[in-house]
Amino acid sequence: MVKASELSWDDVVRVGPGTLGGNYLRCFWWPVALSEEVRDVPVPVKVLGEELVLFRDLSGHLALLGAHCSHRRASLEYGRIEEQGIRCAYHGWYYDRQGRILDRPAEPIKTAPGIRQNWYPVRELGGFVFAHMGPDKESPPPLPRYDVLVQDGYRVAERGDAESGKAYKCNWLQGVENTTDTTHLAYLHGIFESCPIFKAVEGEFGVKIYILEHGSNPNTVRVRKRCTVLPTINRKSREPRAKNPDRLRAQVQQAIWIVPIDDTRCEEMRLTVYSEPPKDKRYHGIYQDRARQTERKPYDRRLFGDITGIVPLEDKAMVESQGEIVDRTLEHPGYGDRAILLLRKMIRDGIADVAQGRKPKGVLQEELPMIDLDIGFEEFEIDKAPEVIRDLLPELEAQVAKAG
Ligand code: FES
Ligand SMILES: [Fe+2]
Repeated sequence: MVKASELSWDDVVRVGPGTLGGNYLRCFWWPVALSEEVRDVPVPVKVLGEELVLFRDLSGHLALLGAHCSHRRASLEYGRIEEQGIRCAYHGWYYDRQGRILDRPAEPIKTAPGIRQNWYPVRELGGFVFAHMGPDKESPPPLPRYDVLVQDGYRVAERGDAESGKAYKCNWLQGVENTTDTTHLAYLHGIFESCPIFKAVEGEFGVKIYILEHGSNPNTVRVRKRCTVLPTINRKSREPRAKNPDRLRAQVQQAIWIVPIDDTRCEEMRLTVYSEPPKDKRYHGIYQDRARQTERKPYDRRLFGDITGIVPLEDKAMVESQGEIVDRTLEHPGYGDRAILLLRKMIRDGIADVAQGRKPKGVLQEELPMIDLDIGFEEFEIDKAPEVIRDLLPELEAQVAKAG
């Protein structure tokens, strides 16, 4: 029997089919492309180490097939899209959306019931195409309708790429640990003036994080509620900084999926929901422009040069410099890493559950119209602060006293 405590790090981080980690990750729905990318040309996609091709057939239905044609392995990314599927460009084998062969022009027998191209179910929601790559293709678990995917608002779906600095040349778990890492917000990015006071709690869908700050007057406290939704979604509201209280009402909701491409690469899929159309929706573009303006000193031999102030690059430099797959046996994590340690525990529990034939936490048993993840930013009178953060109040008081 596989036990969570006995899993090696290799068991946890590998994504390929048949690995323990890969079997766990295949229990979840993954955003594999932006809806707007799937037009009249097949889209090559690599997820969880598998090469796939996504397309919309001429009847308007989406399909996701194994990239390499069952005939002689040419890629279907060059295939011709037809009414009910796609035809390989090489010798014309024609596949329907579930990988069944409808035609083989050069063969006397046109169909081939014994051959099936690999395929996965896909759904479209909130600006993304989601795929489920688990074994139960005919009846996958329901696609979770997380609040950001269905809430009212102006939605902007973006993907990371090498240019925007949000595709990482490292294992997916480093990416998720980074988005779960509360202390780096102060130190690496300077988003908080001092180390945030926070609490990490095991929630229904993942690691729930409460960050405390002093409020606008001595009798109030501000609470930011975030969550790392299993296995890799960073769900938060992008709040204005405390220094800028005028903008407190302008909350922006966000979810970031870290999508494993293979064992040593991952990519961000980012969904931002604004209450009204934003002036500049190029979140990544702003940082790219800033990066271009930074001149590198001629003797600066570091891979990314000066990363200071360019938030996506700060993250990228940290997680990639840990190594393609960080050796966690050499680490010394501590109290400041408690959210990450909880995340690791929950992922390990999930992997063990799957290995023992159970559904892991976060996989839905039944369709839900909307999952409210209870994310946001609120200010409370200290004596009315929610129960869950009350034990942090002395720490906050001590911080305020220290700051004078
Ligand atoms: S390789 Fe695809 S039809 Fe021959
Ligand atoms: Fe960061």
